[in-house]
Amino acid sequence: MNTGKCLQIVRLAILPLLVGFLAACAGDSPALDSGEQAAAATPPPVEGAAGDAGVDDVAGLYAAQCASCHGESGQGNVAMQAPQLAGQQAEYLARQLRNFAGGLRGQSAADAAGASMAAMAQGVDAKYFEPLAAYLAQMPVKPVQRAAVAEQMMARGKRVYQSRCGSCHRVDASGIAAMQAPALAGMSSEYLQRQLRNYRSGIRGAAKGDRYGAQMRAMVGTLRDDADLEAVAAYLSTL
Ligand code: HEC
Ligand code: HEC
Repeated sequence: MNTGKCLQIVRLAILPLLVGFLAACAGDSPALDSGEQAAAATPPPVEGAAGDAGVDDVAGLYAAQCASCHGESGQGNVAMQAPQLAGQQAEYLARQLRNFAGGLRGQSAADAAGASMAAMAQGVDAKYFEPLAAYLAQMPVKPVQRAAVAEQMMARGKRVYQSRCGSCHRVDASGIAAMQAPALAGMSSEYLQRQLRNYRSGIRGAAKGDRYGAQMRAMVGTLRDDADLEAVAAYLSTL
């Protein structure tokens, strides 16, 4: 099947999902027009396009279901609380998608950002998780302008990072796949701080079966105080 046709099929397949999502968001606002309702009522078959999900299919899926929050280039969006995904390890990304969909992440009442992503992961067929992860992993990282960090904080963050974190996340914070430790360089300070606090309080990593999350929870325990936590997040955001 040619690429254009594949893309067209994926678009058709995604439309009902989007319409359903918008309808749910709209609550009791006026009904959709009948054309859209018909599309929602009769989802076209996805097999074929999905079965051998090539990069083109996945690009369409990403653009339709993920880019609104994570950005067209996977660069993330601080206002949406959505992290950078481009260039991240495929295995890590796929694991997080499974964690969100399977109830290991994003379940706490105090985790609004995680809950919104859990809903998204639950809305995607799990057979797309690995193709999506592979697609994102090879996406070039688009550098984002992050807030400048004061010199003293940079020095503190760097010291903390090199002494407690670099052994797993690598000196340049590009991650070490064999350690299951993701890249952290260039992620927003806001996102990193939230994750560190989530690990610390058990919002993330405490669910039964989240082996690597539990490992990272133990590591957060090595941060002495909030000032160290904020400094290391700020430092990483500048890399
Ligand atoms: C409604 C906005 C929204 C949409 C749409 C969305 N996400 Fe997310 N995503 C988030 C937020 C917010 C987080 C951060 C959750 C947290 O703080 O734990 C996140 C986190 C993630 C993570 C974890 C990243 C990490 O470093 O641990 C992955 C992977 C991910 N999203 C992939 C996707 C994919 C793939 C799609 C499309 C199928 C998607 N997201 C659609 C909002 C969204
Ligand atoms: C023993 C190895 C190890 C050490 C040391 C370590 N980490 Fe991690 N880190 C991990 C693993 C494994 C994960 C993936 C956990 C998961 O799947 O939830 C992780 C995940 C993270 C995440 C989540 C990233 C994301 O995209 O959501 C952050 C943030 C993080 N680590 C920061 C740190 C900081 C800061 C330090 C130093 C204080 C540190 N890590 C030390 C192994 C380590």
